[in-house]
Amino acid sequence: MEKRSQWSSRFTFILAAIGSAVGLGNAWRFPGLAAKHGGGTFLLVYLVAMLAMGIPLLMMEISISRKFRKGAIESMRGIGKKFEPIGWAATSNAFVIVCYYAVVFAWVILMFLNSWQFAGMTGNNEGASNLFFDLTQTTGAIEGSSIPGPVLLCTLIAWGLIFYCIRNGASSVGKVVKFTVFAPVVLLLIMAIKGCTMSGAGEGLAKLFIPDFSALADPSLWVDAIGQVFYSLSIMMAIMFAYGSYLGDDADIAADAMIIAFSDMAISVLSGIVMFSTMGGTGMLDKITDSGVSTAFIVYPQAIVHLTDVGWLNAAFGAVFYLMLITLAIDSAFSIVEGVSAAVSDKFHLKSKTVTISICAICGLISLIFTTQAGLAWLDIVDNWTNQINLIIIGVLECIAVGWFFDLKKVHHEVNRNAKKFKAPYVWLAASIKVVSPVLLVGLFVWNMIVLFGEKGGSYGSYPIWAQVAAGWVVSGLVFLSGFVARMIINHKKKTQGFVEDEISWDAAPAAAAVSADAKAPAKKTAKSSRKKSGKRKK
Ligand code: PHE
Repeated sequence: MEKRSQWSSRFTFILAAIGSAVGLGNAWRFPGLAAKHGGGTFLLVYLVAMLAMGIPLLMMEISISRKFRKGAIESMRGIGKKFEPIGWAATSNAFVIVCYYAVVFAWVILMFLNSWQFAGMTGNNEGASNLFFDLTQTTGAIEGSSIPGPVLLCTLIAWGLIFYCIRNGASSVGKVVKFTVFAPVVLLLIMAIKGCTMSGAGEGLAKLFIPDFSALADPSLWVDAIGQVFYSLSIMMAIMFAYGSYLGDDADIAADAMIIAFSDMAISVLSGIVMFSTMGGTGMLDKITDSGVSTAFIVYPQAIVHLTDVGWLNAAFGAVFYLMLITLAIDSAFSIVEGVSAAVSDKFHLKSKTVTISICAICGLISLIFTTQAGLAWLDIVDNWTNQINLIIIGVLECIAVGWFFDLKKVHHEVNRNAKKFKAPYVWLAASIKVVSPVLLVGLFVWNMIVLFGEKGGSYGSYPIWAQVAAGWVVSGLVFLSGFVARMIINHKKKTQGFVEDEISWDAAPAAAAVSADAKAPAKKTAKSSRKKSGKRKK
């Protein structure tokens, strides 16, 4: 039996989970939503949604996978055989998401490499906002099939970086996150200092922090806050299952989940401070929108060329901004691949490195669709379906499976097993997992459907219906069918190749070593050889 990879310390796990949670969503979606929903009011509702739903679900996923020591698919089978397809759906949805997330990551790299161009654009709004379009040649519609060379190159770099970071699973992830979690915070602080020292910054900060309570009456505030909590914590994406499965037996899940969630929120607020102070300082406050792509690639460049009168200084700030986005995005991007890889290799007893390489290669090829001139349009469609539809359904199913068909007391016990100062109360977890989360998520789903079929007449954006069917509905169908197709394949393998599935039960789950020990190496080995071996995920 292969030995399972494990985090080298509690701190490493927390960093890796924060790295996954903190991503592009914090930098460009959170400030945009705050702008849309009365600043401080959004912050308050976001906090409520995080406590009511986000943190309990995060604890649930981490504790279940820590107990089974398996990725999403096998962990859901452990909850109940019939729930395995939910694990498959989460994994397949993550597989689709990473195909386009990698391209957004590539665009960020492309902008970073071209940020020197801002030097010659001081005060030139049009030039700044066209840079992204010039570089990517994107049409924004389902038109154009050529792939610009630089975009292709950056996509290759993106996939190369992703693979490099997860090549040895928890062990290599543990090393990179020490850099990728702190670097964006430092870069954000530099930008916050620049932003807050500009005249006009106060107006921006007032808009971010002073609540406008009249915004509470708008149901879309709640819808957006719930969606953002869900997206930001990287739950229901197979990721937290994988990361939880590398935890040692002595991990304090109750406290760790709180640290992860509040750090994620703190970085969102810091990004908000950067965005609002900079936009206030450049007189562009009303340009902040909730469309992330447009904020980062179209609106923010206009602010960059107004930061100072010195071209090269603006270019330097531009480079800092895109470098910040690179360091934010990379650990989210590789966490998705890691989630998928862990789930699949656990299921089929495959070598994780082989699975990781295969996923990077297959997703890399699929991601080429998003590098074409029509890429932004495809991305918009796929993003809408995977996040506004699939993710929510997976969330509801997971809550119902664990909350109503499994003994939640066991999950609660697992969460608090090593709790020291902070213990998660049972009523909190039970109320959230059984009732509050599924009800809120169903509400969110119904709302999205009403918007799609009511207001928009069944069409998302102005894309042709065939494209929405192909990249939206068909992809959703495949995501939810994947578990059933996989079951057929597994049964066939059982009959013809003697494939044997692992026995998986909560009470007989394997114990792990203490998280602080480097448990990757067999206990017999000397400390020195243990350290050497810990570089590999599975031997
Ligand atoms: N949580 C990440 C963010 O806020 C998003 C993410 C999406 C992470 C998909 C992993 C997978 O940007």
